[in-house]
Amino acid sequence: MNPLRRDPSGFEAFDMLATMVAVVRPDGECLFANAAFENVMRLSRRAVERSNLYDWFADAGRLSDTVTGVARNAYSSSRFDALLRRSNLPQELPLPVHVIVSQMDNSEDQVLIELIENAQQTRQDREERTLDQVQATKELTRNLAHEIKNPLGGIRGAAQLLALELQPNTIGPELSVELAEYTEVIIHEVDRLQSLVDRLLAPHRHAQVVGDVNIHEICERVRQLTLVEYPRGLLIKRDYDISLPDFRGDREQLIQAVLNIVQNAAQALQQRIADADAQDPACIALRTRVARQVTIGKQRWRLALELHVEDNGPGVPAEIRDRIFYPLVSGRDGGSGLGLTLAQTIAQQHQGMLDCESEPGRTDFRMTLPLP
Ligand SMILES: Nc1ncnc2c1ncn2[C@@H]1O[C@H](COP(=O)(O)OP(=O)(O)OP(=O)(O)O)[C@@H](O)[C@H]1O
Ligand SMILES: [Mg+2]
Repeated sequence: MNPLRRDPSGFEAFDMLATMVAVVRPDGECLFANAAFENVMRLSRRAVERSNLYDWFADAGRLSDTVTGVARNAYSSSRFDALLRRSNLPQELPLPVHVIVSQMDNSEDQVLIELIENAQQTRQDREERTLDQVQATKELTRNLAHEIKNPLGGIRGAAQLLALELQPNTIGPELSVELAEYTEVIIHEVDRLQSLVDRLLAPHRHAQVVGDVNIHEICERVRQLTLVEYPRGLLIKRDYDISLPDFRGDREQLIQAVLNIVQNAAQALQQRIADADAQDPACIALRTRVARQVTIGKQRWRLALELHVEDNGPGVPAEIRDRIFYPLVSGRDGGSGLGLTLAQTIAQQHQGMLDCESEPGRTDFRMTLPLP
């Protein structure tokens, strides 16, 4: 055996990848497994490299046929779905993965195996879609809001002038009262539109005020504000990873973003809060975690923080689940559908992103923010 071939340092660039990569011989002997592989298998590299790849797959026959075929040059690469078994983690279900088997440079006794977690793939696709959607709608919303804003001042001014003209001594007292009501409606509705448009434009108007931010201080502030509003029947748990470092950001904006998410959760729990069931109370959990090697949009970060806002409410209504980050999408009476758009914009202004997983009984909004 060529000792250089076995030297893992030749493969170390694979450690930079977020997907699992292994280099094996046709008989399954593992020559190298990258860092992502170790993480998923929760085995040390030595242990991974001492084992045989075929022991880890539910349908090892198919994999070994493919590896042999690729090694024999029957085809240069092949892909299929498989189940990865982790026998050292018996409590974990087998992991659905997409397997790509390819030839290594002119080598007949080395084959490259890439594994992509199906869940990871779907999640990444969804994240990229969300970012694209948000980007596309942001521009449209901003332009539209500006177009609406300009004539509003004129309409309001004209309605005010009209109100001044509607004097009892010129048109009679009864008509004057009736018409005054109309002008009031116009002014009131204009004001409502004005504040809607202001909220649409808000995230783009203020320059960021950047300082040192502590995520837990933000969570505590939001928790306090929410508990003032819901003093009874709502439990707000916290589960903080206090090793998370401070980072640079706009504290007030981030409070606003987290508050919007927590308020939504509280609103979704309103019925449960009213029921005040002591056994199974309405609950929001604020959880922080470190994440390594995360991809946000198209950028890769070595370190990031994840803030999860989880609630045990009914879940996001299925018919709007794909669109909740769009402006003006609301599933709530009286909702303006701007809270999450604003939160997403703020997360993005911090190079981060916001996404959501929801089913009845468990809704999880996750804000990922890169750390220095
Ligand atoms: N935790 C949650 N559980 C269930 N549904 C949710 C949750 N968070 C958001 N939603 C749904 O997503 C919709 C959009 O939320 P968003 O905050 O953007 O707007 P809104 O709350 O309707 O209005 P506002 O602009 O006042 O925040 C909500 O109307 C609600 O239907
Ligand atoms: Mg909201």
